[in-house]
Amino acid sequence: MTKFVLGIETSCDETAAAIVCDEGRGTERIVSNIVRTQVEEHADYGGVVPELAARAHADLILPIIQQAFHAANLVPEKIDAIAATCGPGLMGGVLIGMIAAKTLALVHQKPFIAVNHLEGHAQVCCLTDDVEFPYLLLLVSGGHCQFLEVYGLNHYRLLGETLDDSAGEAFDKIAHFLGLPYPGGPQIERMALEGDPERFKMPLPLKGRPGCDLSFSGLKTAFRILIQKMAPPSEQDINDISACLQKGIADSLIDRAKNAFAMMAPEIRQSRRFVLTGGVAANKIIQKRFKDFFEERGFQIFSPPLSLCMDNAAMIAWVGLKYHLQNIHHDFSFSANPRWKLTERRREDREPKEERSVV
Ligand code: KG4
Ligand code: ZN
Repeated sequence: MTKFVLGIETSCDETAAAIVCDEGRGTERIVSNIVRTQVEEHADYGGVVPELAARAHADLILPIIQQAFHAANLVPEKIDAIAATCGPGLMGGVLIGMIAAKTLALVHQKPFIAVNHLEGHAQVCCLTDDVEFPYLLLLVSGGHCQFLEVYGLNHYRLLGETLDDSAGEAFDKIAHFLGLPYPGGPQIERMALEGDPERFKMPLPLKGRPGCDLSFSGLKTAFRILIQKMAPPSEQDINDISACLQKGIADSLIDRAKNAFAMMAPEIRQSRRFVLTGGVAANKIIQKRFKDFFEERGFQIFSPPLSLCMDNAAMIAWVGLKYHLQNIHHDFSFSANPRWKLTERRREDREPKEERSVV
């Protein structure tokens, strides 16, 4: 019998609900996928305002869940389990999605599954491209930036992560200083098309240091000071700054990827699989740099379709489905954790399976 899982995502500025099933291949398994982005609510602030995000989630969550059922032509009774992001993310938003999921599960007597948002990003390529385990993954979004070895469900090793800001945050904040609307990444990419990527030389964060941790706050500050000195920058200045910022972020990601490549475990090296995901993976220059880098080294590179690289609930429903198929569910007393790390393995999820831990 086909199994259906509802997923709910509210950890940042997307209110999303989706239903996935265990039959079919690739994106066929997505029965419905509704995402309402709050770009307009945050447009004036150059970033997500947690209080505004929580209020918008509270207003939107029930209509979005209704739409997900409507688009799937299903009623809650037909669902097998209900999954929600329980962290990491902005606490107000996470609580709203999690409580909506627990309430639906209680009312309709369905199992509840607590999903780590990062696990959604890390596993969605298995839904879209049937990527097999293990693989090396770079998750690069507005809130996160990390290199991970992915061995299976709830089975990760963190190779490196940002010490301060994510790459998406640097795109968004510099765009804001330049007077470009939120989210900044796509705007910077557009302006960079007419810009000179060599005009301003900026120091590459952590270049030459061992490990594959990342850092973007220094780059953000350097560009902010440059823009303040220009006040106001001309259109050509904006294009050139955009091109230099995009190049700086791409250079930094590739510089750290070289170390990640050298550090990865033999099983990952043998798998020859690399996955690039998160909102910043939408950037064509960054995609091309990673494609060249990994293909030169004999790796196959996968990137989910853009709508599934960005925040969405299909990835949460997908992870929920995987847990449900292993009969792993969570108690209604499960607490939201705004700093939930992917490598924190929960004992209750560890026991049903015999799996080697690498953390
Ligand atoms: O994954 P995502 O939708 O949400 C988070 O979990 O953060 O990523 C959003 C981030 C934003 O910082 C946005 O500026 C960035 O992804 N982004 C881009 C592009 N499209 C979105 N950054 C660079 N180039 C793009 N084309
Ligand atoms: Zn995300």
